[in-house]
Amino acid sequence: MADKDAVQESHNYHLDKPARNETFALKGSNSLDWGAKNRLSNIFAPETGRTVMLAVDHGYFLGATTGLERIDVTIVPLLPYADTLMCTRGILRSTIPPTFTKGIVLRASGGPSILKELSNEEIAVDIEDALRLNVAALAVQVFVGGEYETKSIHNMTRLVDAGNRYGVPVLGVTAVGKDMVRDAKYMRLATRVCAELGASYVKTYYVDEEFETVTASCPVPIVIAGGKKVSELDALTMAHRAIEQGAAGVDMGRNVFQSEAPGAMIQVLRKVVHEGTPPREAHDIFETLKRKK
Ligand code: 5RP
Repeated sequence: MADKDAVQESHNYHLDKPARNETFALKGSNSLDWGAKNRLSNIFAPETGRTVMLAVDHGYFLGATTGLERIDVTIVPLLPYADTLMCTRGILRSTIPPTFTKGIVLRASGGPSILKELSNEEIAVDIEDALRLNVAALAVQVFVGGEYETKSIHNMTRLVDAGNRYGVPVLGVTAVGKDMVRDAKYMRLATRVCAELGASYVKTYYVDEEFETVTASCPVPIVIAGGKKVSELDALTMAHRAIEQGAAGVDMGRNVFQSEAPGAMIQVLRKVVHEGTPPREAHDIFETLKRKK
C-alpha cells in the first residue's frame, strides 16, 4: 500500500495549457481506434510515416523459392533493418525469434499453390490466432479482375470485420493476374476497391506512368511490392520514384533476398525510403557495404 505520509498537497494542473489532441498523421487513419493506430505505428515509422517491409511470405504458394530456402540463415540476419516483416504464421512460429518486436504483417489468405488457379484463395488464419501471435496487421490477396475476384474481395471484407473487432488493420494486396495489363488505370481500380471496402493500407506494384494518380486516388497509404528481381540500381530507382510520387513505403521481397548482398540492399533501401537518398548515391553506398561484407 502507498505510504500516506508521502502524499503531497501541492498540485500543478497546467491550467494555461490546452489538452493535447494530436491527429494521427498516417493518411486516412485518423478515425481508427487506438489499438489499430498503435499497430500501424509499429509498421510505419512515426518519425517519417514510411515503412520498409520485408516480404518473405512467398512460400505460401511457391514453396521454398530462391533466397527463402533457409529463412533462419538468410532472413533472420536482415531483421534489424526491417521496419516490419511480412510472413506466414508457419514461418513466424518456427523460425522468427520472438525477440523481434517490430511489426509482423501476417499472411492471412491462401489455398492454391502455383500449380492451381491462384485467385481461388480462402481466409487462412483465424483472428484469435493472429492476436495470439501479436501481429500488427493481416495481409490478404485481392484479385481484382481475376477469376475468383468476388471471393477474394469477400475474404478481405471478412478479415476487415474480424480485424475491426480487435483493432487489427488489414493490408489489401493487389494481385495482378498474368494476363492483365499492369498500368495506372488497373492499379487505381484495384487499390481503390481495397480501400473502399475497408483495407487500412494497400500494397500494389509501381507503374512507370501516372503512379502519382494511383496514390492520389487511394485514401489510405500505399506500399509497393518489388516484383521480380531486377538490378539493385533499378530497384532503388523504383523505390525512390514511388516515394516521390506518394507511396508510404515498400514491401519488398525478391529484390532484397535475391540480391547479391541482401544486408547491404535493405540498408540502402531504408535510406531511399526514410531519408530520400537519391538512387545513384544509395547504389554507391550499396557497393561499399557489399565490399565490406
Ligand atoms: C506474394 C506477396 C509478396 O509478399 C510480394 O509479391 C512481395 O514480394 P516481391 O517484392 O518479391 O514482389 O504478396 O503474393
